[in-house]
Amino acid sequence: MTGAEQLFVDVERLAARLDALAEIGPLEPGGSSRLAFTELDGAGRDLVVTWMRDLGLEITIDGIGNVIATRQGRTEGPPVMTGSHIDTVRTGGRFDGCLGVLAGLEVIETLMDADITTDRPMAVGFFSNEEGARFPPDMMGSLVYVGGMPLEEALDTVGIDGTKVRDELDSIGYLGSSPIPGLSPHAFVELHIEQGPVLEEGGVTIGAVESVQGISWTEIEIVGQSNHAGTTPMRLRHDAGYAAAAVSTFIRGLADEMSGDQVATCGAMTLHPNLVNVIAANATITVDLRNTDDELLQEAEARLARFLEKLASSEGVDVTTRTLARFEPVVFDQTVVGLVEANARALGHSVVRMPSGAGHDAQMMARVAPTGMVFVPSIDGISHNPEERTDLADLRAGANVLLRTLVQLATN
Ligand code: GLV
Ligand code: MN
Ligand code: MN
Repeated sequence: MTGAEQLFVDVERLAARLDALAEIGPLEPGGSSRLAFTELDGAGRDLVVTWMRDLGLEITIDGIGNVIATRQGRTEGPPVMTGSHIDTVRTGGRFDGCLGVLAGLEVIETLMDADITTDRPMAVGFFSNEEGARFPPDMMGSLVYVGGMPLEEALDTVGIDGTKVRDELDSIGYLGSSPIPGLSPHAFVELHIEQGPVLEEGGVTIGAVESVQGISWTEIEIVGQSNHAGTTPMRLRHDAGYAAAAVSTFIRGLADEMSGDQVATCGAMTLHPNLVNVIAANATITVDLRNTDDELLQEAEARLARFLEKLASSEGVDVTTRTLARFEPVVFDQTVVGLVEANARALGHSVVRMPSGAGHDAQMMARVAPTGMVFVPSIDGISHNPEERTDLADLRAGANVLLRTLVQLATN
């Protein structure tokens, strides 16, 4: 593509959009709270859609609320697509997801400014409910987009607050009608912050992401018996609070023992009646297990299941489990990974091939198109936290690698 080798994004314009979006549901010191399908998510969507419209892009909204904006190319055919998500966890940062969407917009605006039309169309999208924190599973929008989850099932999902996806999506005005599954792109590339410490520790600017680890989310309900905290002998207790804590301790030990890439988190725990002098009758907890190796992930799942059985019998509690999300590890397309790596080098940046610890929309898009990701460093490896930060120079580097990669993929 003639001329595109000299093109660079306007990182100040990208940063200004990131700032403006972070102001919707702001959290000190610079993060955001826009859980999927809330009013704030709706306001964030409206802002990004306004920017897409201002650029004159063709916008589609599908049945799960994914928004795709396309700029036509010189030839017809499926677009080269980029994007990510703009929903956040309840205590999120300003870059997780938003960077990928707004950098995609920046790439398209840079091409427009230079009056360059790519051969293939180019599209940037934001997928609904990537976080899955309110309505599991994570990556719901992109999963539905690629036909991995029936639309009706997704719309019927009940969230942690008892609401339904369908009602919430409708109330923010994003229950669209564009067909599901969506159009398979020619290729998909997502820019994202690393959300971990690897790049920073290695002093490396760009991660050429080769794979995403497998994810297993389970909700565990424990039913014991409420009783008096002072009078009930320890041998007579059916303590759901104790059992919940034991699960949390067990999975930490499990990850330590399996070492390698196994990680384990008990991120949510609710006790009832949750009072100082009452043995808890019920506990609801979540377990998030991840591993780059699916066999090892299955082993961790099996060991957790055995532990729960033993715990139920030793404490005299009922334990039931529900799978909230289960995704196998995903390997990205070698050609796209190679392009990301080569473009990083060509732009003078240090680069390393690496797996992703977090889940991403790209892992769903990999089911239908050659896919890859670009990572930039997270300061102190902090993410899912309002303190999430990435240097401006690294944002620029990542967005320029994205620009080059997309332009090459969009060239016939
Ligand atoms: C979702 O983004 C996750 O990795 O938890
Ligand atoms: Mn993300
Ligand atoms: Mn996230």
